Amino acid sequence: MEHLKKELQEIENKGLLRKMKLLEGAQEPKVVLEGREVLNLSSNNYLGLANDPRIKKAATEAIEIYGIGSGASRLISGNMELHAKLEEKIAQFKNAECALLFNTGYMANAGIISSFMGKDDIIFSDKLNHASIVDGIILSRAEYKRYTHCDVKSLERMLQSSKGYKNRLIVTDTVFSMDGDVAPLIEIAALAEKYDAWVFVDEAHATGVLGKNGKGAVEHFAVEEQIDIQMGTLSKALGTFGAFVCGSKYFIDFLINKSRSFIYTTSLPPAICAASIASIDIVLNEPQRRKRLWKNADFLRNGLKNLGFDTMNSKTTIIPVLIKDVHKTLEFSKELFNENIYVQSIRHPTVPEHEARLRVTVTSEHSINDLTYALDTFEAIGKKLGIVQ
Ligand SMILES: Cc1ncc(COP(=O)(O)O)c(C=O)c1O
Repeated sequence: MEHLKKELQEIENKGLLRKMKLLEGAQEPKVVLEGREVLNLSSNNYLGLANDPRIKKAATEAIEIYGIGSGASRLISGNMELHAKLEEKIAQFKNAECALLFNTGYMANAGIISSFMGKDDIIFSDKLNHASIVDGIILSRAEYKRYTHCDVKSLERMLQSSKGYKNRLIVTDTVFSMDGDVAPLIEIAALAEKYDAWVFVDEAHATGVLGKNGKGAVEHFAVEEQIDIQMGTLSKALGTFGAFVCGSKYFIDFLINKSRSFIYTTSLPPAICAASIASIDIVLNEPQRRKRLWKNADFLRNGLKNLGFDTMNSKTTIIPVLIKDVHKTLEFSKELFNENIYVQSIRHPTVPEHEARLRVTVTSEHSINDLTYALDTFEAIGKKLGIVQ
């Protein structure tokens, strides 16, 4: 296996080596990272719920009753009452007939798409969809077409030449995880109807964030009726862990029978389910969190734009700062860290080559003071590195 060392060295030479940073304590707007207290602008804990006392209480109470481990997969003896309760809650939350839990968003995307699409089918996928969607498509063995990012004309051209296939599926993130822009769901739903295709959406970064009640982009665009399958995660704005899919009863029954990442894995710990139930209640009952989140996101995005940074087409709480050059991006991130701000650099292959960027994320719990400090620091470093004037 010596050749792996060489490959790692090559990755490092290109400035693309990934390393994990150690975080002490809980996910908060300020965290201790690598021994230094920093402003955390790199978390998907958008509504600040990951360390919420009510959610922690729900989890600890569940531990007292149900213990820690679930003991088996759902189809063996690991189907506990809190799994069923959470699925009921999610179905209500998403106005869906039925919901099914997966252990992670990655497992959901990989295991759902691969279970119901096959080699006589064709899948149209946005070029910037999450890696887990790509892996699900590859596993399905269906014909795979990538349309230009958020470009419905490109999608339509592909749909026009897809007559020979048995089934057609359009798959898209609703909020793109590295770009912070939003898929044109109304247009996509209209094309699906015109060309007899199904639509699968990934609401990982939209759940709790978009829509009047935080139900996601599907609520925001009022396309609930037109979207066949909605997937989402509990690990981002909801602050807990796991993922779900919503669909018709027979679709969920199909997944229970066919989806390998659902069948062949131990189910979620019950305390996590209790935490997620408490979290959904907070999302529904505390719209002020979402208001604060959007106020903070707009403040930071507009501030960065006004300073001359390229925030791409970001419209959400994910704000990329496009630098392009890998080494400059790393340097920028390091300089920010020296000033006690943590912003992760995102490089190829997570984003296309020559599109290296800083991925800034904001939460409802950051203060305007925090964000003003971040803007001042971005300005000073941006000028020093010649990225803004
Ligand atoms: C769009 C999108 N889908 C799916 C996932 C995977 O979710 P999980 O972290 O629960 O595996 C992520 C990120 O992690 C994501 O950004």
